[in-house]
Amino acid sequence: MTLRRLALLGSTGSIGTSTLDVVRAHPDRLSVATLAGGRNRELLLAQAEAFRPRCISVGLKDDADWLRSRLSYTPELNWGPEGLLACALHPDADTVVAAIVGSAGLASTEAALRAGRRVCVANKESLVVGGALMHAAALAGGGELLPVDSEHAALHQLLEGREPASIREVRITASGGPFRDWPLARIQAATVEEALNHPTWKMGPKITIDSATLMNKGLEVIEAAVLFDLPVEQIAVTVHPQSQVHAMVGFRDGTYQLQVCANDMKLPIQYALLYPEAQPGPVPPYAWDAARAWTFEPPDLARFPCLALAFQALREGGTAPAILNAANEVAVAAFLSRRIGFWEIQACDRAALEALPASPLTSLAQVLDADAAARRHAEGWVASRP
Ligand SMILES: NC(=O)c1ccc[n+]([C@@H]2O[C@H](COP(=O)([O-])OP(=O)(O)OC[C@H]3O[C@@H](n4cnc5c(N)ncnc54)[C@H](OP(=O)(O)O)[C@@H]3O)[C@@H](O)[C@H]2O)c1
Repeated sequence: MTLRRLALLGSTGSIGTSTLDVVRAHPDRLSVATLAGGRNRELLLAQAEAFRPRCISVGLKDDADWLRSRLSYTPELNWGPEGLLACALHPDADTVVAAIVGSAGLASTEAALRAGRRVCVANKESLVVGGALMHAAALAGGGELLPVDSEHAALHQLLEGREPASIREVRITASGGPFRDWPLARIQAATVEEALNHPTWKMGPKITIDSATLMNKGLEVIEAAVLFDLPVEQIAVTVHPQSQVHAMVGFRDGTYQLQVCANDMKLPIQYALLYPEAQPGPVPPYAWDAARAWTFEPPDLARFPCLALAFQALREGGTAPAILNAANEVAVAAFLSRRIGFWEIQACDRAALEALPASPLTSLAQVLDADAAARRHAEGWVASRP
């Protein structure tokens, strides 16, 4: 039995707190070596007292000082991007959970892969933006990349041991978000509260808005292409409002295999942390004796243009996904702070993708430059709105 020692980056977020629930359920297999959060120092303090990690990082130096003065023991205390790296690369940790939101998580994911760690990646931006660079880092350092997203954990299960030549297509499912059956005019005028009201998943605010625009599904399509080395033509999306089937693989002979489980993020988190070991999960096994009705439908790209933009970026390749992702982060933040309307998110994303030329991926620094340029473009676009 292996005891995995975790570096949990983003411990104060939705994935981070669920990860700690999984650790609590498997104390003989999982322990916490380091914890990193952003601004929520109160929660980080409580987590540190409960798990007593050797190393902690927080967003700002002031918050690190605040923690130092309150903790009942003396761990290493760090802050900012350097602090994230210190936690990710700490010698006491062998497994990194990358659960920071946004491209702020990129450098630590890359460094951990380069240092030969198992990296359980929830931070989809690392894969969307960094793509081939993450694979190169894993190859150079012997690191292992395991997905934490439910759709990608499902694909990991479904594709394991399969000959690439036997695969015709992979499909990831989308709940369709809160506006799945809304007419276009109503979607265009959606409020922040309506967009945050996700029907089947409880998540952080950024990914919840991305679920309402279907950009989240678009980022997941790019993530699937990167993780499983699939061409864009082999990846499709099916809307499945019940969120019980997470992915499907279609074989050359016309048959399909589907992965089914409850919509609880602790399942894919545990899958990645304990892989290849399968331990009792955080929810009871699937209740097939209950009557159920599941539905499946194609996504409507006219009402959800962000999904089409993601396919476009994947087709363009290189830095195009980084440009789309960065513009979208700015647009979503502007929507959440009520500076732009819901429909302007896709307009801002499209404007950046059209204005900024993509170039082939060469280095992390170049990707971060593309990210910065797209942010500037999107911020200018937001500022120019009446
Ligand atoms: N939630 C889900 O069900 C789900 C499912 C699949 C994939 N994901 C992906 O997982 C990632 C995390 O999502 P989430 O829903 O857990 O987000 P969240 O609840 O907003 O949490 C984000 C975490 O990142 C930390 N953080 C943000 N910026 C930081 C920075 N610059 N430095 C250090 N820490 C920083 C936050 O710290 P503070 O809160 O302390 O500021 C928090 O711990 C995202 O990439 C998301 O797409 C999430």
